[in-house]
Amino acid sequence: MSKDPEDRTICFCHQVRLKTLLEAIRAGAKTFEELQAQTSCSTGCGGCEYEVRDILKEELDRG
Ligand code: FES
Repeated sequence: MSKDPEDRTICFCHQVRLKTLLEAIRAGAKTFEELQAQTSCSTGCGGCEYEVRDILKEELDRG
C-alpha cells in the first residue's frame, strides 16, 4: 500500500483518489458538481459525497 496520503481512495465506486480531486480543484474546479463532472466522483452510490464536499471546502479555504 502506498504511503502517500494523496493516493488514498476517496470514491470507491469510481476509484477516485484524493490526488485526483486535489488536482481538479487546483486546476479550477470550485463546486461539488464540477468535481463530479471532471472526476466522476460521487456519481455512483453517493456515499463519498460528504467527504468530497469536505475536501473541496478545505482546499478552497486554503486558497
Ligand atoms: S463511493 Fe463515491 S459514489 Fe460511491
